[in-house]
Amino acid sequence: MSAAPVNDDALAEPLRSRWSPTFFDDTQALDRAQVTTLLQAARWAPSAGNSQPWVFLVAERGSGTRAALEEHLSRGNAWVRRPAVVLLGCTQVGPDPAAPPSGKPAKDPAYAHHDLGQAAAHVTLQARAMGLDAHQFSGFDKDAVAAALGLPDHVRLLTGIAVGHRGDPAAAPEAEREREAKPRTRKPLDEVALVRWGEAW
Ligand SMILES: Cc1cc2nc3c(=O)[nH]c(=O)nc-3n(C[C@H](O)[C@H](O)[C@H](O)COP(=O)(O)O)c2cc1C
Repeated sequence: MSAAPVNDDALAEPLRSRWSPTFFDDTQALDRAQVTTLLQAARWAPSAGNSQPWVFLVAERGSGTRAALEEHLSRGNAWVRRPAVVLLGCTQVGPDPAAPPSGKPAKDPAYAHHDLGQAAAHVTLQARAMGLDAHQFSGFDKDAVAAALGLPDHVRLLTGIAVGHRGDPAAAPEAEREREAKPRTRKPLDEVALVRWGEAW
């Protein structure tokens, strides 16, 4: 079975070979230095006004944080039980009433969401550069997990980034193999690059 990357040859690594596998090795762990490097990649992402509105909850396999997540995964996301680490992406959507952080939250919370997405992209690319794979997901009960992990109201839990070593596809259940073998597709460039609405670049 062929692995999924079909990215454009003109792209630089690790953009070219990044993709989102679902069958991870559930035996290999990441050490603290590796997880730290992933978090540093997020930390050095740009953000609106350098507000750095994101927080990542580190959910290592077997931890209490991970158990709280696994209790609330949507049915199609059972694969999230296998990867070594999940970083749960949260972003500050309002002022912190207790202790203002060193960076101010962006005035428009839309930028807090934008910035979390950008930090997440940095994590996925750093993971690939380290020979790891990453798969983002939003299919879980965010409210339930946020409550279980004590998130305050001004911080919104939005997505998870699963990171780990890819599992041996030969050992994957049939359904997982099929899922991973699905062709990766994208909208054509002339639908996403415009000079004005309705006119392709
Ligand atoms: C915000 C976001 C939410 C996603 N949610 C899920 C999810 O709940 N389950 C899942 O298996 N994949 C999820 N994905 C992965 C996407 O389906 C995947 O990135 C997309 O199909 C493109 O494939 P690629 O990453 O291999 O290029 C999500 C990705 C993003 C960025």
